[in-house]
Amino acid sequence: MNIDQSIGVFDSGYGGLTVFKSIAKQLPQYNYIYLGDNARAPYGDHSFETVYQYTLECVEWLFAQGCPLVILACNTASAKALRSIQQKVLPVKYPNHRVLGVIRPTAEVVGQYTHRRKVGVMGTRGTVNSLSYPMEINKFFPDIKVAQLACPMWVPLIENNEHIHPGADYFVQKYLDQLLEKDADIDCILLACTHYPLLIPKIQSILPAGIELLGQADIVANSLELYLQNHPEIAEQISQKGGRRFFTSGDRGTFDQHASIFFGEEVQSNQMHLKI
Ligand code: DGL
Repeated sequence: MNIDQSIGVFDSGYGGLTVFKSIAKQLPQYNYIYLGDNARAPYGDHSFETVYQYTLECVEWLFAQGCPLVILACNTASAKALRSIQQKVLPVKYPNHRVLGVIRPTAEVVGQYTHRRKVGVMGTRGTVNSLSYPMEINKFFPDIKVAQLACPMWVPLIENNEHIHPGADYFVQKYLDQLLEKDADIDCILLACTHYPLLIPKIQSILPAGIELLGQADIVANSLELYLQNHPEIAEQISQKGGRRFFTSGDRGTFDQHASIFFGEEVQSNQMHLKI
């Protein structure tokens, strides 16, 4: 067993850093390894099989670095790969490892944010087409009506740091209008992609009054804290030295530049070498 075990945090690219930022703030004592599969991002339009294969490779890599627990801080990976990894891979190959996603913890609490019981979900095509959110939300809150919209332009805008420029306004307005055309009574919009929090200022500036904008970062951090309290057998394995290491499968220089915007502090990454 490695001396320094860590919690692994994974995303297709930079988006998971918005979640990692909240997790590291709320649970600063633990060691963490963040992995962004930037070489193959974005995942949003890839098939189920491709997202599964990419995610599995990254999860196994994090296990090999000494992470008994991995958080898929990516909705697309959570929607398309989590269940298969939990049900088919872990019991056979890694019975002592755990992998958690971001969809279930979000679905569990969404009922607190809607009075009219009408929720809008904005995500990648992969997340929206998987129907994971309507299914999970209705498990906990059968009375909530969910309207979904895929927003395929948002991740590329954010990954290219264009989200702060006026060019992004068009696509923010367009997708917001399209969602509200589906259901004008929505009073809670869930940003079901870990990249989207970077658009919050722009969305807030045009959001009609009475609609709550819900990001996932704090929800996932709260749920991880609870998980570790309830699973001391996992929590006890993780070193409490506050270490943070960042890895990317893409270009390190580019990662460091962009990642610091998402994470809110300087990031110096290491290279993760893909098998394929
Ligand atoms: N950040 C990821 C998510 O939460 C998706 C970005 C991508 O398309 O790779 O869904």
